[in-house]
Amino acid sequence: MSKKILITGGAGFIGSHVVRLFVNKYPDYEIYNLDKLTYAGNLENLTDLESSSNYHFVKGDIVDASFINQLFQEHSFDGVIHLAAESHVDRSIENPMEFIQTNVIGTVNLLNAAKETWKGEFDKHLFYHVSTDEVYGSLDEGGFFYETTSYDPQSPYSASKASSDHFVRAYRNTYKLKTVISNCSNNYGQNQFPEKLIPLCINNIKHNKPLPIYGKGENIRDWLYVVDHARAIDVIYHQGKDGETYNIGGFNEWTNIDLVHLLCKVMDKKLGKEEGTSEKLITYVTDRAGHDLRYAIDATKIKDELGWEPSLQFEEGLEKTVDWYLENEEWLENITSGNYQNYYQQQYENR
Ligand code: NAD
Ligand code: TYD
Repeated sequence: MSKKILITGGAGFIGSHVVRLFVNKYPDYEIYNLDKLTYAGNLENLTDLESSSNYHFVKGDIVDASFINQLFQEHSFDGVIHLAAESHVDRSIENPMEFIQTNVIGTVNLLNAAKETWKGEFDKHLFYHVSTDEVYGSLDEGGFFYETTSYDPQSPYSASKASSDHFVRAYRNTYKLKTVISNCSNNYGQNQFPEKLIPLCINNIKHNKPLPIYGKGENIRDWLYVVDHARAIDVIYHQGKDGETYNIGGFNEWTNIDLVHLLCKVMDKKLGKEEGTSEKLITYVTDRAGHDLRYAIDATKIKDELGWEPSLQFEEGLEKTVDWYLENEEWLENITSGNYQNYYQQQYENR
């Protein structure tokens, strides 16, 4: 059945994989990618779709309410998959207001537009909000985040995402908008902006620069290959139940330092360097303020109810990721020239 779907943040890391999956898998769907093209949005992520007739790009800001209302009136969208966000914890520590604007106000603008244009027909439309496991806060060594875990966000980023999740639930409860939310663990894979741990280390190893490890490197993250996240979003969009939350994760926990050791090994192999060469770049630096110790998702519900599970083992996914970054030098060069240099200097020079 033909559908018109608005995907927000489709030029970013995860969004570009979601757009690609939907455009290629559902030729009958019209996919609209709405993106402001911030530093994290990059149309080079989607060059392979430029000639697809069911793909449309719209440049715009979700914080601009009148623009969003007009867009919804112009197009009769069947559904929204909302990914647009400011997404980096370190930037949220430096500049929380941008996170409140985009992640909170931007989400509410989309909810308002959906509420007004879908009035009387809520059962025929779906608002799917893509969120993060960071809303649940930080775990000690034991336990997992479940869909029922209370929210306890600890950074300006996670607080802004938690707030947006609450608004989505409030709009369902109050106005009966049909909604689903998913909360996913840390993603990795091709097209991730090199401010995040894995691509930052790949880029630094390439340029023989120090690998900055916050604190003692003992913080734990649960890593999922981005294409598996996109597959989960597809399954949830089509089979998820109204009002439900789905946790998405890989049951794949790594301390940062173990992960970086593994990455160094893979990089040495791929670059034809003697094993142990890249490890010498590891440098312990001042910890992130309020650094969450551990994230770990229990992804049983999505497996039992929707049949989704990750397709890739971490070692395999990490090799694929490294291969992609080494094969796409131009992408990396383009993204790390200009403003990235200023960002890097500000974040890391006095750490
Ligand atoms: P990203 O930073 O790579 O991409 C965000 C995209 O949103 C960019 O293309 C950017 O241009 C766009 N955008 C930002 N502000 C906008 C605005 N005001 N109007 C329109 N577009 C705007 O982020 P990502 O890592 O791809 O994350 C996508 C979503 O998934 C986010 O909502 C994030 O919270 C969530 N998430 C991310 C992870 C992860 O590990 N990266 C894990 C779980 C959930
Ligand atoms: P990041 O990729 O920023 O994701 P998140 O903060 O959303 O989990 O960071 C992953 C982990 O790596 C986190 O514990 C912080 C740590 N980290 C470093 O040790 N050094 C770095 O330069 C970066 C960017 C992150």
